[in-house]
Amino acid sequence: MIVCVCNGLKDSVCRKTAANEQCRGVGCIYRLNGARVRCGRCVPMMREIFDTSARSSHELAAVSPVLRQPDAASVVMRPASRAALDHHEA
Ligand code: FES
Repeated sequence: MIVCVCNGLKDSVCRKTAANEQCRGVGCIYRLNGARVRCGRCVPMMREIFDTSARSSHELAAVSPVLRQPDAASVVMRPASRAALDHHEA
């Protein structure tokens, strides 16, 4: 689905960009894709994408430096892995 018609940005691309640890805000989604806000109609949707994708990705990265990869949002921790991390940090 196209999120930003003015720049032709798809939601999948925006979510992947937002999950990148270099992406620090909504404006970064545009900048990292070589785009900029024009009409602004997409900004609320872009903000929602950033809030969901970036937050989940950055929270995973905070749990373990091993997860600091560009596609960390797609990593699912199994309960055994989480328990091992908790034991290691204790
Ligand atoms: S739809 Fe994104 S700037 Fe216009």
